Amino acid sequence: MDRRKLMIQGVAALAVPSLPKGYVFGEKSLEISGAGSLRSHARHAHLLSGSAVRVDDLQSNSEYARLVSEQCDIVVAHNEMKWVALRPKRETFDFHWGDLLVQFARKNKMRMRGHTLAWHESVPEWIREDENRKNARELFVNHITTVCRHFAGHIHSWDVVNEAILPKDGEPGGMRKSFWYENVGTDYIDLAFRTAHSADPKAKLTYNDYGVEYENAEDAERRERVLELVQGMRQRGVPIHAVGIQSHIKAEKAGGFGKGLADYLASLQALGLEVYLTELDVNEDDIASNDVSIRDTEIAQVYADFLRVALGNPAVKAVLTWDITDRFTWLNNGPTHKKKQPERPQRALPFDRDFKPKQAFFAMRDSFDARHQKKTR
Ligand code: G3I
Repeated sequence: MDRRKLMIQGVAALAVPSLPKGYVFGEKSLEISGAGSLRSHARHAHLLSGSAVRVDDLQSNSEYARLVSEQCDIVVAHNEMKWVALRPKRETFDFHWGDLLVQFARKNKMRMRGHTLAWHESVPEWIREDENRKNARELFVNHITTVCRHFAGHIHSWDVVNEAILPKDGEPGGMRKSFWYENVGTDYIDLAFRTAHSADPKAKLTYNDYGVEYENAEDAERRERVLELVQGMRQRGVPIHAVGIQSHIKAEKAGGFGKGLADYLASLQALGLEVYLTELDVNEDDIASNDVSIRDTEIAQVYADFLRVALGNPAVKAVLTWDITDRFTWLNNGPTHKKKQPERPQRALPFDRDFKPKQAFFAMRDSFDARHQKKTR
């Protein structure tokens, strides 16, 4: 059979690539779709492999939609299920874009994550107005109930609360002084989880945060704070099922991944929680070289180093990159990220901007295989 014309579910697969220059990891199968896809290798390792997506990109770019359906077992919306997207007005819920993602996921037999029911960066302007702010608790409960009921049956896991820890704010437990903390109440996290569970008892409820990956004092403190938070929730009988490690990691960052991350995973596992790597990508701003193959090699090595530690714990059940192609990475698009090298597009993800696999793709796939081999040895 001509492997370049392999058919997947009736759709011609992407052409088999040549091996990216500099690639030095394990098995070098060049087939990247079907049995060679990330999702297929992940399944063998008892993992779900997936990506964040923007729904308008899925709709406007069929090659992208095909890549996502070929590689992913699970998807999550970058933005479409955040407060700002779902609640243009107090009186209105706009489920249009979220529903389109449900349809895409169902059509392609994928699972779907919900992101997110409470995040300090997604607070609609109308709720900050005096009259609404006073009723923030009631609006919060109503929002979570309505949204979770609407999507019930379609959601593998909700990021119920996102990024609630910020020790430098000086609050007890290292809590971030967010709009929700200050206006719903300091118990807003418990409230969010209890409300979500009542509205969708089948979804796995996740606390998701960043800055817990590295062997440095700041990340060590953040790990401690998250552990305290989720331990407390367990003791209070709050329905929490998983912790998300965002995994926005960096090339050329000192410290690396090791015992701190492994111990963190073991503590979460001991609490009976699942762990999802929810937003994996590698920011390569600090790589001095402009040579693409040098950069790609270093980025892939960071993927491999991180996944070697993270996938060492069986509580880790899913790996999602924050989009799958450099064309749509948040590190190149949007005002939230200040690039150190604005003229140089980042190569943070497993596929390049033309949807060709990079060394990072093979590093991910080999990392899944290494976990599978460890299990079967
Ligand atoms: O859709 C508008 C467009 O109409 C407008 O012309 C353009 C002008 O800048 O903005 C577009 O909206 C942007 C949106 O992304 C869609 O791409 C927003 O400004 C921009 O703020 C928004 O950024 C998102 C960011 O969260 C803030 O919500 C990123 O796409 C999204 O990837 C990012 O995701 C977060 C996770 O939710 C939490 N963890 C960190 C992660 C990265 O910041």
